[in-house]
Amino acid sequence: MSVISDLFNKIPNIQNKRYLEIGVDSGWTFSNVKAKYKIGVDIVNPKKIPEVHMMSSDAFFEHELNNKQLDLIFIDGSHDAMQVCKDWNNSVFALDAGGVLVAHDMVPPRQDCCQYPNICNGTAYKLLVYIFANLKSMCPETNIYLCNEYEGICVCHGPGLIPGFNQDVADKINFGYLQTTLKFVIPKSKLMNYETMLENAERIFNGTF
Ligand SMILES: C[S@@+](CC[C@H](N)C(=O)[O-])C[C@H]1O[C@@H](n2cnc3c(N)ncnc32)[C@H](O)[C@@H]1O
Repeated sequence: MSVISDLFNKIPNIQNKRYLEIGVDSGWTFSNVKAKYKIGVDIVNPKKIPEVHMMSSDAFFEHELNNKQLDLIFIDGSHDAMQVCKDWNNSVFALDAGGVLVAHDMVPPRQDCCQYPNICNGTAYKLLVYIFANLKSMCPETNIYLCNEYEGICVCHGPGLIPGFNQDVADKINFGYLQTTLKFVIPKSKLMNYETMLENAERIFNGTF
């Protein structure tokens, strides 16, 4: 099992959910998620997992998804801010009402983990800064939670998730903004460690935590 699949498997009725993982690698998370319908995308597929489309996430959204709607999308592909931004924007449109978006690598442990997009955490954290900077313009039913362990797991759901993260926005965000976001911007009730997130997963996924 992986910490991420343990969390996903707490989603009420996970067995009947439609799951997409962007960046599957060897399937450490993918193969342990108990959803009925699973689909993945990665530029490599070392374990030849049949449900994984071997292509870029951009090509997948453009040519393979065919307007299918999903209940749970895990963004964990390229960690370059610009690619994460495209994956976020595409995922927002592919998410069914009531669906959950989860993004990984939102809290790199150190600044030197942000240097290269496909090693360590890259600049994926810029998405987190963007999301929380825009929280007030999303509707009140939108719920965003952050686990600050395991390199940062951000859980988002609700009707107000907005696309719009773009290169200009990403260019303006630096590592210092992440520290400010973690310390001053994220409401304390939304920031937690992994154990708290797992214990309260059901309420987190239905927005009552
Ligand atoms: C951190 S690994 C994924 C780990 C996996 N989600 C898990 O939980 O075990 C990131 C993966 O993203 C893939 N990747 C990088 N850029 C990508 C892109 N543009 N489109 C799709 N996959 C990409 C890499 O090949 C790599 O396998």
